[in-house]
Amino acid sequence: MHFNTNTPASAFSRITLIGSGNVGYHLGRRLHAVGVEVVQVFSRDKEKAGELAAATGARAATRLDQIEPGSELYILAVSDDAIASVAGKLRSRLPEQSAIVHTSGATPSSVLAPFFPRYGIFYPLQTFSRGREPSFDTLPICVHSPDEELASQLAALGHRISRSVHRIDDAQRAVLHVGAVFVNNFTNHLFHIGQEILADEGLSFGLLLPLIRETVNKIEENPARDMQTGPARRGDQETISRHLEYLKKFPQFEEVYQVLTKSIQKLF
Ligand SMILES: NC(=O)c1ccc[n+]([C@@H]2O[C@H](COP(=O)([O-])OP(=O)(O)OC[C@H]3O[C@@H](n4cnc5c(N)ncnc54)[C@H](OP(=O)(O)O)[C@@H]3O)[C@@H](O)[C@H]2O)c1
Repeated sequence: MHFNTNTPASAFSRITLIGSGNVGYHLGRRLHAVGVEVVQVFSRDKEKAGELAAATGARAATRLDQIEPGSELYILAVSDDAIASVAGKLRSRLPEQSAIVHTSGATPSSVLAPFFPRYGIFYPLQTFSRGREPSFDTLPICVHSPDEELASQLAALGHRISRSVHRIDDAQRAVLHVGAVFVNNFTNHLFHIGQEILADEGLSFGLLLPLIRETVNKIEENPARDMQTGPARRGDQETISRHLEYLKKFPQFEEVYQVLTKSIQKLF
């Protein structure tokens, strides 16, 4: 993994943002806040496009045929499955030499290759939700392009919004994304299960928040494996049986408990 520590000289100063969802919304506002001109923003939803356009000083587009040539970079922050078809539709609107990137962790950059030779990745490694302000300063921005000049320009753009910019190729990013699914997506789902169980008993989820925070604090300095506690780690079979008995009222969570218990037991 190559860590890019230098800020290359030239960064993009005029970008177009396709997608006004969780990522588009926050990325667009951040780019605007640091002085990058956001020329156009796109959403099929007029209200969403209008809201983001107002927040970024951009013009709103609700059809891809309204996207104009002339931007230095086109950022596709659309659903993974829509990336190739959106790029295909833009191909007839934009010069072939336009620079284009997507923001997906799991999708290879090469899905853009059939449409634009100057393609790459601008992947912000964070969980974004519209109603929650992300902290961009330390948020890893992973950039990649087979075109060295474009890769360098993407790194420079990354440095405008974050101190943590990394050159990471498609294979490395795919692995990072698998890791991210475990530590964020699955963990968040487990938080949901915890919330459901406590709510059912009228207990406040706030009681568990210090535990959640300490779980994260501990692994900043120690391997997670060494920090494992709980009945599966200790081999307390009777406790596990009591938990499974209780979970009969939540059959949808019982299997998750069993799978994770087995995984921990295998490790120890
Ligand atoms: N959310 C995260 O935490 C996160 C983090 C890092 C990277 N990413 C990546 O960033 C990208 C966007 O994710 P997101 O969370 O922002 O998704 P999202 O909130 O679901 O937004 C998806 C956007 O894609 C647009 N879109 C979907 N299908 C389309 C189509 N056929 N044609 C045109 N536009 C279409 C939607 O347009 P409308 O507005 O018209 O519905 C919407 O603006 C994905 O590649 C994702 O993997 C997400």
